[in-house]
Amino acid sequence: MTKISNLDIKLIAEKYGTPVYVYDKQRIISNYKNLRNTFDKYYPNTKIHYSVKANSNPHILKIFNEINAGTDCSSPMEVLLSQKAGFSKENILYTGNYESYTDLEFALNNVGRINLDDINSFDRLLKVGKPDIISFRLNPGIGRGGFEGITTAGSDAKFGVPYEKAIIAYQKAIDAGIKRFGIHMMTGSNNLEPYYFAEIVEKLMMIAGNLFNKLEIVPEYIDIGGGFGIPYEDDEDPLNIDLTAKLISEVFIEKSAKYHFGTPQLLLEPGRFLVADAGYLISKVVGLKNSYKTFVGIDSGMSTLIRPALYGAKHRSYIYGKDKLHQNVNICGQICENSDIFAKNTFLPEAEEGDLLIFRDAGAYGYVMASNYNNRPRPAEVLVDGEDAKLIRFREQPEDLMKLIPEFENL
Ligand SMILES: Cc1ncc(COP(=O)(O)O)c(C=O)c1O
Repeated sequence: MTKISNLDIKLIAEKYGTPVYVYDKQRIISNYKNLRNTFDKYYPNTKIHYSVKANSNPHILKIFNEINAGTDCSSPMEVLLSQKAGFSKENILYTGNYESYTDLEFALNNVGRINLDDINSFDRLLKVGKPDIISFRLNPGIGRGGFEGITTAGSDAKFGVPYEKAIIAYQKAIDAGIKRFGIHMMTGSNNLEPYYFAEIVEKLMMIAGNLFNKLEIVPEYIDIGGGFGIPYEDDEDPLNIDLTAKLISEVFIEKSAKYHFGTPQLLLEPGRFLVADAGYLISKVVGLKNSYKTFVGIDSGMSTLIRPALYGAKHRSYIYGKDKLHQNVNICGQICENSDIFAKNTFLPEAEEGDLLIFRDAGAYGYVMASNYNNRPRPAEVLVDGEDAKLIRFREQPEDLMKLIPEFENL
């Protein structure tokens, strides 16, 4: 591997240093258009709110604003970043978790629609103000994700209102005088099975049908969350997005008719599907160790990209300009944890100090999950468009971290 879009990776590393996250703008746009066009074919009244948590760089958000997506935010800062990228209030959706009064007040004043995480979130919301439209995130009792940590519904999940209690939530909203409603779920991330989406949407529609019919209200929007996956390994097939959209739309249309919903807006909140395969993490090999195993040590770590350490996630890796697989190695970072391993027993070409090591599919849940553990400053981010590159986040410097520490005399 030598290029990202039309740009030589070595030139990027020389200009911006390593480790550096690099994103391919055209890939993001084509991922979005693929999803947009497919839903236009089957259910045009679909709105896509890009999930900011996947990659919140405002330069990335600006791309989504330019192609008419909305955003879905999980914190006030994500809303501020959406605003910085130019999103209007009505194009920003807020889906929090255990929202505080401050979060709710901020959301009420700054976003168009709110999906509440619990019944008592509504009590807190009413203390700070009353929205025109409200939606609750339901836990439909089942969920599925690529790993346990990203399965966000079912009996073990901390998210949402259990669907059996949904009627209490909406009755409360009716009693408070609210007249416009939505409904939401997000059951898990990185799903690659179209029929899973059909199954879960059918379940949500049946829950919504019983609930809304009983309360004699109709949903203006039905938000099925994100969760569309990408293949991280060679033996995984990509999600068949055409079949997924077709199955979702069929069940959505059939149940909307059955429960007299008309044609509610279908909301999607994809994150990973839109940005994951557009991103790369470029690191440098800094040390090679022949211990009981062979270790290739790089200038990144779990502080740069935590997914492998956190979930055992796989990111395919390449050495710049070298193709011939040569050795079975463990790729590790510089952090003082033995879980700071990017790949175990993986085949790489012969690695040498100074080689560039590139991880694929690092555009989602990469930089956003980076930390300063071991006091490593966070990396830079670069956006590539054809042969052009631009720095979209400065590399963190020791001074940036020092700045947060008050002088001793002020303590
Ligand atoms: C409420 C909500 N919406 C959207 C997403 C985005 O999920 P994904 O990146 O799998 O599309 C998440 C991820 O956890 C989420 O919690």
